[in-house]
Amino acid sequence: MKIIAKTGNIANTKEDLIVLLSTEFKKNPYTGALGNLVEQPMKDAEFLGHDKKSFSVHTLGKLPAKRVLVIGLGATKKIDLEKIRRAMSTAINIAKSVKAKSLSIEFPEIDSDIKELTCAMAEGLALSNYSFDKYKTEEKKEKINIETCTLILNNKFSREIGIVKDQIKESVIVCNNVASCRDIINENASIIYPDNFAKIAKKLSGLKVTVFDEKKLEKLGFGLHLAVGVGSKFPPCLVIIEYNGNPKSKDRTVLVGKGITYDTGGYNLKPTGYMETMRCDMSGAACVMYTIKTLQELGIKQNVIGLCAMAENCVSDRSYKPGDTFVSYSGKSVEIGNTDAEGRLVLSDSIAYSKNFNPNLIIDVATLTGACAVGLGNYIAGMFTDEDDVALHLMTCSKKTGDRIWRLPMYEEQKEEIKSDIADITNSGKSRYGGAIQAAMFLKEFVPKGVKWAHLDIAGPAYLDKPNHYNPKMGTGFGVRLLVEFFRKK
Ligand code: BES
Ligand code: ZN
Ligand code: ZN
Repeated sequence: MKIIAKTGNIANTKEDLIVLLSTEFKKNPYTGALGNLVEQPMKDAEFLGHDKKSFSVHTLGKLPAKRVLVIGLGATKKIDLEKIRRAMSTAINIAKSVKAKSLSIEFPEIDSDIKELTCAMAEGLALSNYSFDKYKTEEKKEKINIETCTLILNNKFSREIGIVKDQIKESVIVCNNVASCRDIINENASIIYPDNFAKIAKKLSGLKVTVFDEKKLEKLGFGLHLAVGVGSKFPPCLVIIEYNGNPKSKDRTVLVGKGITYDTGGYNLKPTGYMETMRCDMSGAACVMYTIKTLQELGIKQNVIGLCAMAENCVSDRSYKPGDTFVSYSGKSVEIGNTDAEGRLVLSDSIAYSKNFNPNLIIDVATLTGACAVGLGNYIAGMFTDEDDVALHLMTCSKKTGDRIWRLPMYEEQKEEIKSDIADITNSGKSRYGGAIQAAMFLKEFVPKGVKWAHLDIAGPAYLDKPNHYNPKMGTGFGVRLLVEFFRKK
């Protein structure tokens, strides 16, 4: 699907579907045949430009386009970028239902920065047009692909058209990477296993990619990461992705991603109903990889190193067992309280290893705890950090991108929960309460001294069982847009 921009009168466009965006209390601003077509339905009590309301009418040959769709944005003062993205998802869904192949979309005249508005429109369209239908045979035959979406700007914006076009290019780059991220989350665990993830990383152009195999990890002493991966026929590995966008600067961020290509739970086996989606447990690593790829494609002037901690958590005669103790890269010993709390194990070796890159900041991204999803729901990730400046910046980027996060606390008392009788700490304490915080407190033990650190628990929003506006069901690619924005504005 192509997204382009033009100036002109939307009534004259020949696309299959004209999309108008109407605000509440707005009188019909359209004139001529278009004005006549929408006059009555716009006054309908059901519509009135209310948020989430829409109607579509056939043009019956009165205009070159086949149909007109009017989407309500609600009260002018309450319109934000998220509403625009969501309106674009309505446009894509309705276009598909009426089998429209081309859309011309009114560029709304609202009080918003033109770049940000374009970004929201392009993202809303591109992200909503995604589907993972590789394994569908029947539906695919009938599928109508939308070919073009044209943003139509009023002639008075002819000077801004260049800005709009450049922004569309940028947004398309971002969304293509989100789509690639979704694709590898949705793909079989029999295809996306650690070595294959490494292969995909190595194929990414313009980035330095190094892979530490099992032997190398043994040499380095990644005792926790190896313990998790040992039970699978697919060996664990660490994929290091380096992007030096600002060689003159010493400022460096390490992104650590949880890359469990399948989480059965291990000997603490997950029951039916909790395991089926667990190919998504590498969403953190996928997010890290495609965030860095996006930064490189956009040429963002930052130095970022990605550590994707890859392993499969399986049951076999070699698997690690509850009650075992292992020693981490940091030297700390860890008792295995639960083999299903494997994410914090693979992450903590990489977090400790980050010190070799002399970073100022470490951010880890992980589908870490069911507790976080229970606490915050499916649409919000948990953010944990002691750094108020990092929290504020992440929060600002979250509000702008719609990748929603919420800060959760880490108080010292909670450290009690991860005390162990046999080792320095345990990966799973006795208490069920505050599971997401316990996991964060565990990770904190491995953060190199003097380095800022933030942890994003994306267990809720990484994978959805039903679509949510521009996020499809299954893998969402959560975090890519959030982190790209984080570095863009850092
Ligand atoms: N991968 C899961 C967390 C998860 C749950 C991700 C739901 C996405 C959706 C993680 O490895 C896990 O199983 N965590 C346990 C920890 C517990 C054993 C301390 C959990 O959350 O139950
Ligand atoms: Zn688990
Ligand atoms: Zn897991």
